[in-house]
Order: sequence, then C-alpha cells, then structure tokens
Amino acid sequence: MSNDGVNAGRRRFLVAATSVVGAAGAVGAATPFVGSWFPSAKAKAAGAPVKVNIAKVEPGQQMIAEWRGQPVFIVRRTEEILANLTKIDGSVADPESAASVQPEYVDKKTRAIKPEILVLVGLCTHLGCSPSFRPEVAPADLGPEWVGGYFCPCHGSRYDLAGRVYKAQPAPLNLPVPPHSYESDEVIVIGVDQEKA
Ligand code: FES
Repeated sequence: MSNDGVNAGRRRFLVAATSVVGAAGAVGAATPFVGSWFPSAKAKAAGAPVKVNIAKVEPGQQMIAEWRGQPVFIVRRTEEILANLTKIDGSVADPESAASVQPEYVDKKTRAIKPEILVLVGLCTHLGCSPSFRPEVAPADLGPEWVGGYFCPCHGSRYDLAGRVYKAQPAPLNLPVPPHSYESDEVIVIGVDQEKA
C-alpha cells in the first residue's frame, strides 16, 4: 500500500514538473534575452537558481517548479486561506515554525515573503513523498475540520496551506521553505536569497 502511495505521488510530481518546464521554454522563446538566463538542465541539477514566472497562478491555485531535483510548490493564497491559518494555530505542531526550516527573511507564521505567495519544498518531512495539494474546505475524505492544505499519500501526514504540519502526524516538521527572492512581482528566483537578489 505504501509503495503505491509513493509511486502515485512521484508520478504526479513528474507530470506537473514537465508542464512547468514547458511553460518556461515558451517564455524564453517570446523573450530571447530573458530566455538566455535560464540555466541548462545540467546546471539545474547541480543546484543553480531557477527562475519561475507565477503570473498565471490564479488565487487558490498551485504550480509546481523544480529546483535541485525537488518539487517546489508555489501557491497564490487568498484572504480566506490566510485567515484560516490563524484559526488552526492550535492544531498544528509548530505554529511559529520554531523548529522548522525556512530562511530568516520569511515570516515565521505565514511562512512567506509576501503573504499571498507561498513557496515550499514539496517533500514530506517524514520519508520524502510529495504531498498532494488539497485546497478544498471540508472534503468528504479529509473531514469537516479540513480548511485546505497538503495530504501526504504515503502515511497520511497533513499540512496546512503554510506547510505547517498538524499535531500527531508521522511527519515531524513543517515543509521547508527554500531560499527565494522576487525579481519582479511575477518572477520568483528559487535558490537566491531575498537580500542578495
Ligand atoms: S512520507 Fe510518510 S507521511 Fe509523508
């Protein structure tokens, strides 16, 4: 059962990541100068920064980029999502992210530079599966208390829409926030710290 979960999670990530690479290519073709900045696949694998255009991410939606071979979740959060984060402070294990991994320029509670844009490394802190994006409120399978978040298909860890893990889950820590910065309102650079951008 757990193997099936792992495979399903990885498959979803691969499909989504491929579509993001395609989108980056299209931007490069339309704007050759900008396109030339994109690192080669080899450089990306070695850890080079990755530039991501988030213009097409609608409120409440997620896109998945790839950085250092890892999925990076980028969510445009709504006012409602942000308000719900405060309501569940008592249900998450590390509400202020004291023990979790994020750059120091990220707000510890919203876990973002700009509250509406969430950027997370999309690997479960239990054993590294890629959690599923479940933004809906109170779906039948996740229960009436669910206000949107991530559900790990491997062993059931639950996270909110700040990547904060709920109490008593297999996963011990919140999803990490990678170093990132804004080149413009629409372009995030993953792998370059905000201060050095
Ligand atoms: S890998 Fe075990 S709950 Fe996510």
